[in-house]
Amino acid sequence: MKYDVKDLSLAKKGSLRIEWANQNMPVLNLIQQRFKKEKPLKGLKLAACLHITTETASLAQTLKAGGAEVMLCASNPLSTQDDVAAALVKDHQIPVFAIKGENNKTYYDHINAVLDQKPTITMDDGADLVSTVHTTRKSLAKNIIGGTEETTTGVIRLRSMAEKGVLKFPLIAVNDADTKHFFDNRYGTGQSTIDGIIRSTNRLLAGSAFVICGYGWCGKGVAMRAQGMAANVIITEIDPLRALEAVMDGYRVMPIAEAALIGDIFCTVTGDMSVIREEHFKKMKDGAIICNAGHFNVELELACRDKKGKLVGGLEKIARKKRVIREYVEEYTLTNGKKINLLGEGRLVNLAAAEGHPSSVMDMSFANQALASEYLAKNARELKSQVYPVPKEIDREIARLKLKSMGISIDTLTPEQKKYLASWEMGT
Ligand code: ADE
Repeated sequence: MKYDVKDLSLAKKGSLRIEWANQNMPVLNLIQQRFKKEKPLKGLKLAACLHITTETASLAQTLKAGGAEVMLCASNPLSTQDDVAAALVKDHQIPVFAIKGENNKTYYDHINAVLDQKPTITMDDGADLVSTVHTTRKSLAKNIIGGTEETTTGVIRLRSMAEKGVLKFPLIAVNDADTKHFFDNRYGTGQSTIDGIIRSTNRLLAGSAFVICGYGWCGKGVAMRAQGMAANVIITEIDPLRALEAVMDGYRVMPIAEAALIGDIFCTVTGDMSVIREEHFKKMKDGAIICNAGHFNVELELACRDKKGKLVGGLEKIARKKRVIREYVEEYTLTNGKKINLLGEGRLVNLAAAEGHPSSVMDMSFANQALASEYLAKNARELKSQVYPVPKEIDREIARLKLKSMGISIDTLTPEQKKYLASWEMGT
């Protein structure tokens, strides 16, 4: 078996942590038990480009139990948990190509190593696997019956491919399932982002001016949790509806040019590039903390280079000194004498400096992944090269199972209520 992980001797620690996470993934465990009996993924080769975490390990075991041959690579150079990667290889015989801190070249070498196995299903978090197939590994597309996508940024990339007519197989937008983004993006990103900021800085949030750029589901989650810790939350937005929602949720809303002057902590969660730029860094208070919880490390403008690679702008350009002051914190001293602290190299702070979303929320996200793979195995032939939603029945079934695992029951409609909802005649 080919693999590339940091150190196989970390496997024991990884296996224990996987076991711990698994205790909070009841829905995925139920699916795993059924998959073991029914083997719905038999004969499929599943390449997954995901954050290599304890929760991903539980998903990989589920997919393997379903009969798939599973191989994994990282969906971010800094999110791999090396002990988990070792445990998957050593204790579960699942090939993994991922090392925390790998450079961009190794990151793509690992994606290509997984693609060398000629997968028949892809599973992505950010669409790097699918985009590699469509750019440098085009010949592989004919073997692929379909794929799934975990995150907002990936779904946006895939929709753009579909609109331009370049997509070569069907994709299921797992992110868009209600049991995914309502919970993972909001409560998962909310808690784990705060966790990453606190673990790396040990700063008190109470009383701090906490600027959140972007008020999508992830931004809402981070704002809610920061406010819960008594931070003074400021939102920046480009969408008038979301901005209005943030105002009505009780937050201050203003442009980043104004927020830059007053923030103590800045966190980007927009999915777009260059959200906080050189002109904003220059205005920041001495000691400001900046981080990102969006998928790619492009939201903070760290370094702008011209075609020849010459540094022409960004934080690096206005810094005269930089040092690692504590794990996951780089202190930049600017030419104006002020210091700015960058967390986790501007990559997803919740996965770089903490452990990503807690398992009980990944339970639902990964239940969607497992069931979407089963759906593809059964239905891919009837699908076109488009982006499809997770079928509503799967989404509701996951919500039902999650509630059941929590010991919560709910009401059902009476026949009269059903009739009332189906009628239009009855008014005042
Ligand atoms: N994305 C965010 N948190 C995650 C986790 N714990 N595992 C896998 N992917 C994630």
